[in-house]
Amino acid sequence: MGIIIAIANQKGGVGKTTTAINLGAALAREQKRTLLIDLDEQANATIGIGFSRENVAISSFELLTRDIDIREAICNTKDSYFDIVPSSNKLASIEETLYGCEDKEQNLMKKVEPIKNSYDYILLDCPPSLGVIIDNALFVSDSVIIPVECEFFAYDALTQMVNKINQVQKAKNKINKSLTIEGVLLTKLDNRNVFGYKIMDKVKSLFPTKTFNTIINRSSHLQEAPMHGKTVIDFAYNSRGSKEYRELAKEIINNNEAN
Ligand SMILES: Nc1ncnc2c1ncn2[C@@H]1O[C@H](COP(=O)(O)OP(=O)(O)OP(=O)(O)O)[C@@H](O)[C@H]1O
Ligand SMILES: [Mg+2]
Repeated sequence: MGIIIAIANQKGGVGKTTTAINLGAALAREQKRTLLIDLDEQANATIGIGFSRENVAISSFELLTRDIDIREAICNTKDSYFDIVPSSNKLASIEETLYGCEDKEQNLMKKVEPIKNSYDYILLDCPPSLGVIIDNALFVSDSVIIPVECEFFAYDALTQMVNKINQVQKAKNKINKSLTIEGVLLTKLDNRNVFGYKIMDKVKSLFPTKTFNTIINRSSHLQEAPMHGKTVIDFAYNSRGSKEYRELAKEIINNNEAN
């Protein structure tokens, strides 16, 4: 049974894409069939995995706006367990394109549900905004990973994100679907900065059962890998960042297999 997980936080630069790419690769290493759908016009996940934005024929934009089969948009990576639906900068016009369409927040769900069980995990890399894309992502998802950077403004963004999840949850109740928090993921922790640990304690006290045990520390390998079009698992398997994302994958697999 495929599990669909949105990686979302409307705050920019908190590690959503880094998590989507590297968690996806780590799940694939565990022989979990994984699909990553890039829903951000910046196409950072698409590029970070080694695809060129210019060569993308059918992207997540077409998936959200046209009557196509998702299989036409899926590209294989060199890892046979890891596929991607790439993004394009056409997504910048999504709000105008879907303006006035009925049930527009359900477009992605209608496309993804037919292939849901062809994968163990489907990850959605969301943009840093609270518009129609996030509505589509949360509507189709079973759960959400909220990456939170260990810095001062994190708390405010987290509250807004949780409100958004509650709002979509209410809409989904009407069609008997649920949306849970998979976990809050602390990212970019700098062990030279005491303040980061304070944020960490605060988030843990707010979400005692929902904060992942795995914490992603700041790591130059995580920054460098996408420049080579590689995940950190492929670029520097034994680095700290690689190890942490592999641990996160195991934590998620254990949580889901225990349920
Ligand atoms: N653990 C980390 N250590 C060091 N750098 C990191 C880490 N995680 C992410 N970064 C860097 O921080 C920047 C933002 O990360 P990323 O693109 O993953 O965030 P995002 O939430 O997807 O951003 P956006 O909101 O723009 O989509 C990137 O330059 C990335 O390489
Ligand atoms: Mg991103």
